[in-house]
Amino acid sequence: MSGTEAGAAAELDALAAEIARHNALYYQQDRPEITDAEYDALVLRARAIESGFPALFRPDRPWHQVGAPPVEGFAKVRHGVPMLSLDNVFVARRAADDGRKGRAPAAAFEDFARGIRRFLGLPAEEPLRFTAEPKIDGLSVSLLYENGRFTRGATRGDGIEGEDITANLLTLGDLPLRLAGEAPDRIEIRGEVYMTRAEFLAFRTTQERLAEEREARRARGEKLGEAVQVPANPRNAAAGSLRQKDASVTASRPLRLFAYALGEASSLPADSQSGLLAWLHDAGFPVNPLFGVVEGEAEAEAFQAGMEARRASLDYEIDGVVFKLDRFDWQARLGFVGRAPRWAVAWKFPAEQATTRLLDIEIQVGRTGALTPRAVMEPVVVGGVTVRHATLHNEDEIARKDIRIGDTVVLQRAGDVIPQITGVVLERRPPDAAPFLFPDVCPVCGSHAVRQKDDVVRRCTGGLTCRAQQVERLKHFVSRRAMDIEGLGEETIALLQAMGMLQRPGDVFKLRQRRAELIDLEGWGEKRADNLIAAIEARRAVPLERWIFALGIRRIGEQTAKLLARHYGTLDHWRGRMVQAAVIGSEAREELGAIQGVGPAIAEELVAFFDEPRNCAALDDLAAEAPPLPAEAPSADSPIAGRTIVFTGTLAGMTRQEAEARAEALGAKVTKSVSKKTAFLVVGADAGSKAAKAAELGVQVLTEADWLAIARG
Ligand code: IVH
Repeated sequence: MSGTEAGAAAELDALAAEIARHNALYYQQDRPEITDAEYDALVLRARAIESGFPALFRPDRPWHQVGAPPVEGFAKVRHGVPMLSLDNVFVARRAADDGRKGRAPAAAFEDFARGIRRFLGLPAEEPLRFTAEPKIDGLSVSLLYENGRFTRGATRGDGIEGEDITANLLTLGDLPLRLAGEAPDRIEIRGEVYMTRAEFLAFRTTQERLAEEREARRARGEKLGEAVQVPANPRNAAAGSLRQKDASVTASRPLRLFAYALGEASSLPADSQSGLLAWLHDAGFPVNPLFGVVEGEAEAEAFQAGMEARRASLDYEIDGVVFKLDRFDWQARLGFVGRAPRWAVAWKFPAEQATTRLLDIEIQVGRTGALTPRAVMEPVVVGGVTVRHATLHNEDEIARKDIRIGDTVVLQRAGDVIPQITGVVLERRPPDAAPFLFPDVCPVCGSHAVRQKDDVVRRCTGGLTCRAQQVERLKHFVSRRAMDIEGLGEETIALLQAMGMLQRPGDVFKLRQRRAELIDLEGWGEKRADNLIAAIEARRAVPLERWIFALGIRRIGEQTAKLLARHYGTLDHWRGRMVQAAVIGSEAREELGAIQGVGPAIAEELVAFFDEPRNCAALDDLAAEAPPLPAEAPSADSPIAGRTIVFTGTLAGMTRQEAEARAEALGAKVTKSVSKKTAFLVVGADAGSKAAKAAELGVQVLTEADWLAIARG
């Protein structure tokens, strides 16, 4: 732990932000990025810091939050009794006693039972009775029954407030609409909505097909319709299905329910958890048939081991066993601490592992040029899910674990994230297996793939021409601060790219030759095509600094682009010197490094960019279509140097922002209103009262054409 309070405070801040982010990913977006074990480790760390530095206690404590606030769109439901979560035996014990890290779960469970006896003042020999229930990996729900009828259903949300999903829950065949037999006037039942493995796999196959069809429509330039979610696991599938705005979609999903707990109730239907489970069954709820009642710690441990052995054969995912002290009167006395009851605990299974053969290592190229290795394996079932692929993160990871094609690898699926390769079974390595050679060319476009100092990622340098990166690059190219072309959003870029009309930046300026094809696009027509072409034509001559920035070279932001433009002045000069700078120790390289604000990392990126012939070709293609204006060095020979200038109305040839920057570069002072000190007023379309004022004061009025003549020197 950080030794000083300041260090601890900083770490706790960082942890709070990270845990809050993972809460949102897990509970709101149904797409966790880390395993439960990794999450638990973060929570443990935060709690340990808190107990070491009580002054750092923070009211927001995201590690004490169950879930995340409800998503927008559904009505909110305030739970009569908070819907809390369970500590798992590791978290519960280790947080309480930081000095005994890594205790076996059985010992931790014994601590849990001892804590109960101590709290209730029971003798050590007193056997404790627990229900032992499989911990279903789904989504917990609250089900309210009034006078025996189902009246409202909600998600857990943040534990205090959830979302009203009554309409969606009504579509579940497992949900009794009326309770059978005697029931309290008002009773809220809690349970888990889940999907069976078999139904999940069939559902996911359907979703995959729909997603592929959607991609094909995109490539053909057709209407896309709603996004298609391909869930990673049954839990995400259940969660996504329950959060549908349209209940008929939920109805089409194979969702099931197990009931297991009580929320608020006008009277108790039983005096123990085992009695409650029996009552739930009689009332018409599905209750998990594998639950048991155990007496004492030894039986609990045996139950846990038995359930772990059965786990793989079950048709639904469970991730542990929930032990609940059976007697309700004792539960009431024990109450809650933080976010969890003192009378119940989740004893989770360790992560599931399997071995399989590594058939290949594929290299995928991301939208920003990062090369990511992916394992292709002989299909294997881990935790009920068939796995064919796993991420290998980066080349160092492969080297560190010495993973070779042909190896037998150990796969681990922990919680509900993508499987990881944790290691290699060396005894089963084929004699001819060679260390994996990470490619140094991009598998998509053939450009060099290089790794800069201090970067774990190898990146394709053919950014301007690589198919994998084109959409990202073009998005940047046309963005407001770069070429500033309106009407070319991401969808349009992706569409035009897929149709082969848009690949390199220069292609943007060739679109006017493809007017007929643009008009024919779904939902386009003449007006939209002409608007786009006009927007493009207006940007055919931008200042060099914008032009450089628009290329989207890594690490070349607006500031650096400006420095380069000022220093080199023209495109030709810059381009020539960048090519020469490839030689380390050359005069051009020294010159580049000597520019104030250009460090070695930037120099390296520039050299790598110009070292790739595909980039030079793309740059020349753009220059032929849309040559940049030379850089704006403040100049004394301009007619406006040292004079005050005001712009009014709309200019057709450049934006106001750009006109003002250009005027400043020519040494003029730009002001907003006309006064006696004003030397020139430039009048664009739809000018307002400033022209009249200028006439009154005898200020010289310039048309846009006059201004452009000055601006272009
Ligand atoms: S009882 C206060 N019983 O596990 C006790 N929970 O981490 C509340 N779960 O939010 C929960 N199977 O989503 C309980 N048989 C079971 C369960 C179960 C799965 C889930 C539930 C809960 C989480 C606790």
